[in-house]
Amino acid sequence: MTQDELKAAVGQAALTYVKPGTVIGVGTGSTVNHFIDALAASRLPLAGAVSSSDATTARLSAHGIAVLEPAAVDRLAVYIDGADEIDGTGCMIKGGGAALTREKIVADLAEQFICIADESKRVDVLGRYPLPVEVIAMSAVQVARRFAALGGDAHLRSGVLTDNGNPVLDVRGLRIADPLAMESEINQWPGVVTVGIFARHKASVCLLGTPLGVQTLVF
Ligand code: A5P
Repeated sequence: MTQDELKAAVGQAALTYVKPGTVIGVGTGSTVNHFIDALAASRLPLAGAVSSSDATTARLSAHGIAVLEPAAVDRLAVYIDGADEIDGTGCMIKGGGAALTREKIVADLAEQFICIADESKRVDVLGRYPLPVEVIAMSAVQVARRFAALGGDAHLRSGVLTDNGNPVLDVRGLRIADPLAMESEINQWPGVVTVGIFARHKASVCLLGTPLGVQTLVF
């Protein structure tokens, strides 16, 4: 199976977690796009979706799925999103699509984070994938220096601004053995909007696409 077929399989499998008549949170990326298309094809009745990016909003709207502002909901039963890496405890690196801040905001509303990913995303220790960090532009060099002190090599993602209008640093060379501690530490640095470590908002469940079928990992 191709990577795209694995992504389509987990996008379809995630429908199991969608209860008719509810509002759900929807992430961003190519795997989520498969989920949105499967959701539309399923004709499951939904009260609406809270979106994590302009791209996801556009896709949901194109399918006629109502998009609600986060302020309109108290809680979401589920948030469904992809990941760039996921470890054996459900901690993730996210932000390859530059949507990390809104993703974390919507995930924070949800009881359960359902991660959908192909098997290439499963790692023992986070950090092989460059860690995305959304920053306020004037802080970028200062934040990059702090990463250098940790052994990380941070570079601005060329030609990319987030939906919030901020640049993204991609940090190579980190070995994130304690995701919760590193997320907490980086969150304190002035100018950091969001670090793409999702440990405080880790996955509750991961639907992992493999050639042998979709594996369900519960954390
Ligand atoms: C978006 O900013 C990211 O967090 C995505 O969720 C992540 O990059 C996974 O993307 P794919 O589903 O396209 O691999």
